Amino acid sequence: MEINILESHEDLSQQAAAIILRQLDAKKDMLLCAATGNTPSRTYELLAQEYGQQPKRFTDMQVVKLDEWGGLPMTDAGTCEHYLRTRLLAPLSINDSRYISFRSDPADPQEECRRMQGQLSEAGPIDCCLLGLGLNGHIGFNEPASFLQPGCHIARLSTTTLLHTMVAAANRQPTYGLTLGMADILQARMILILISGSSKKDIAREFLSRRVTPELPASFLWLHANVICLLDHQAADSWDIPNNK
Ligand code: GLP
Repeated sequence: MEINILESHEDLSQQAAAIILRQLDAKKDMLLCAATGNTPSRTYELLAQEYGQQPKRFTDMQVVKLDEWGGLPMTDAGTCEHYLRTRLLAPLSINDSRYISFRSDPADPQEECRRMQGQLSEAGPIDCCLLGLGLNGHIGFNEPASFLQPGCHIARLSTTTLLHTMVAAANRQPTYGLTLGMADILQARMILILISGSSKKDIAREFLSRRVTPELPASFLWLHANVICLLDHQAADSWDIPNNK
């Protein structure tokens, strides 16, 4: 794992955007798996700025939504759908033919997971998987548990996860999560995980201890050969970070 500590959230976002653009230049129809939440917002803004300069760069780029809050209408301001449409898809003019996504309000959530898995296996594997780190160590909605799930699945959301700012912005409480599974993530050609802010200090330290455990789902990223982890100073605090490859 390549670990880089950046001065600020801005620097982290600049570097993340540069890495994504590098991948895109190498593969014009790159399939980007997009996380939501506070951490990647500025990165998406920077990609949108780049689109303003060079729209053609993004003509073939594809996006898959990493996860979704279940039980909310698709248009709810708290959904990952709303987040991605407003911050990534509309700004980069990515139309629905280049976007794979969980519905937030499926009539049959199990069937929705099967549908998503089918779409991902046609379009995948993911080229670049952009992840944030949950306060409890989750990636997507792969929540800490005694075992993890390889494919798309319905997640039982932990109390910590339900305290997320996206839930506060929603008009109702999600009742479950829908997420890509651990194998979907680990089959990505490269993974970029962003960790930002002092609230992530403790979980970042545990993650970087290299102990691989389902109690900290992000720790499975240590099993992947091509992961870049960017932390800002607030998340890294002052502790020594092992320079592990
Ligand atoms: C939520 C999202 C994840 C995100 C995580 C971290 O659970 N569904 O995709 O990575 O929170 O969010 P934040 O970046 O706001 O800390």
